[in-house]
Amino acid sequence: MSVNTEIRRITTNTVQEMKLNGEKISMLTAYDFSTAVILDSAGIDVLLVGDSASNVMAGHETTLPITLDQMIYHAASVVRGTKRALVVVDLPFGSYQGNSKEALASAIRIMKESGAHAVKLEGGLEVKESIERIISAGIPVMGHLGLTPQSIYKFGTYTVRAKEEAEANKLLSDIQLLEKAGCFAAVLEKIPAKLAKEATSLVKIPTIGIGAGPDVDGQVLVVNDMLGITKGFKPRFLRQYLNLFEEIGGAVKQYIADVKSSDFPNKKEQY
Ligand code: KIV
Repeated sequence: MSVNTEIRRITTNTVQEMKLNGEKISMLTAYDFSTAVILDSAGIDVLLVGDSASNVMAGHETTLPITLDQMIYHAASVVRGTKRALVVVDLPFGSYQGNSKEALASAIRIMKESGAHAVKLEGGLEVKESIERIISAGIPVMGHLGLTPQSIYKFGTYTVRAKEEAEANKLLSDIQLLEKAGCFAAVLEKIPAKLAKEATSLVKIPTIGIGAGPDVDGQVLVVNDMLGITKGFKPRFLRQYLNLFEEIGGAVKQYIADVKSSDFPNKKEQY
């Protein structure tokens, strides 16, 4: 008897079935090959090559400066590191807001040059035409509502969104619009848990929350934040599973001491 050890790739259909079956979807960001291998081997469902790379990889204050070329570089590295996870890539600021033709051209570049499986973009009604054009070319789109960091200079702060009735109502209308436009899923970022629950109940597509409470179909975190690599970033919604800043720092201090004292390399560590 032969055992089939082939790994089956998670698809956009799989995550939609997960919502139907009541199975929560796990999603993390990834920006490089080595991290992608670890997260994929651990069984993560979805890897998001987020434009948060602008913050955690490049050290920018906002997500605005990262370019399409840079996103493609990160995305191709992540795709090479995965066998199972669905890889979704953020369309960066300035690559889709101009018009829907530009949006499609950017999405096609991501798919062709990185080998990723879907793209994500921020906004509702404002980007409807772009979403429809990208999907009409056969490219799956994940939406993103609530706190949309590419609009930080419009919002002025990174605090919780849609606490007021007008913004909450727009979000509820936008989530239905995303579903109608053909998005296969949507991220809900930093909104009241009650609103996220209502938005989730209105649509058949899965919602993935970050700071949106438990009543969504999946959760996403920035991997550098949940592993404690990012120093001093502790919003209420973040669960930090490791303190790698301290652990890596400790290992590096030990290495420096070993080099300075000529303890490294020893007899076994040479040819
Ligand atoms: O870029 C990113 O990391 C994101 C997540 C916060 C959802 O969009």
